[in-house]
Amino acid sequence: MKVIKNALQMQKIALKHLRDGDEIGLVPTMGALHEGHISLLSKSEKNDDITIVSIFVNPIQFGVNEDYLKYPRPIKKDLDICRKNHVDYVFMPSVDDMFSQEHRTFVEVQKMQDILCGLFRPAHFEGVATVVSKLFNISYPDRAYFGIKDFQQLKILERMARDLNFRTKIIPCPTVRERSGLALSSRNSYLSEEEKNISLKISKTLKEAVHEFRNKDLNFVKRNVLNKLRKIPNSRIDYAEIVNFSNLSIADNNTKRVVFAVAVWIGKTRLIDNVIMTKRSK
Ligand code: PAF
Repeated sequence: MKVIKNALQMQKIALKHLRDGDEIGLVPTMGALHEGHISLLSKSEKNDDITIVSIFVNPIQFGVNEDYLKYPRPIKKDLDICRKNHVDYVFMPSVDDMFSQEHRTFVEVQKMQDILCGLFRPAHFEGVATVVSKLFNISYPDRAYFGIKDFQQLKILERMARDLNFRTKIIPCPTVRERSGLALSSRNSYLSEEEKNISLKISKTLKEAVHEFRNKDLNFVKRNVLNKLRKIPNSRIDYAEIVNFSNLSIADNNTKRVVFAVAVWIGKTRLIDNVIMTKRSK
């Protein structure tokens, strides 16, 4: 496994693999790797000749009062995980290399970035789309792997890849959960034991919503979820919204495939989760 710290060097290596006929898989991450990331790595190992993992805590996707500085950076542990999981290259650029003082270009995926998390984290998705398009141009991946847990991010990047004619196929990967149901996230490390116990209510509530969705009106399901989330102690809801699976527009009772997405603060930690629900045809 090679660790590459420079974008130009990574680009040269990726180009050479491309010319040699290798298929390249990219797993973009901000590090603090967990089982969710490992599931992406093993998908790439199966599909691709070469797996590149990027580890870059991207400053431009964090708001001014967000957790950029305290975001976990366990580099040695991350590299061990990559090595154990047969990664070929870890791309770990510096902030200056990715975003020089002169950087002026940003990628905006209109409308889809203005709802759900985008309402509460302005410029977040522009930061994500910009860094991911740079990562695509640096590593020329045939496939790039993203978790469904960040559903809005996934849909925005699918749209971006199509709109900007990237050669990369976006591969959605299932959310990995603890046995308790809690969706894995690097930010779970911020939670105290007590907060972690409390936060289980989020996935439990969504799971119950999937059952209700089969025979109940959408607004009923939404109201019920909101009522349950409001009862979680030490919490604050950013949103609990049901959107169209394909384009993230607000769903109605005629929408066949929907995503129930929530963002809830537990203490000082913001957690997101979602479930995909499909109406049975009558
Ligand atoms: O999901 C993440 O970890 C980040 O948003 C990503 C896709 C690596 C871009 O910085």
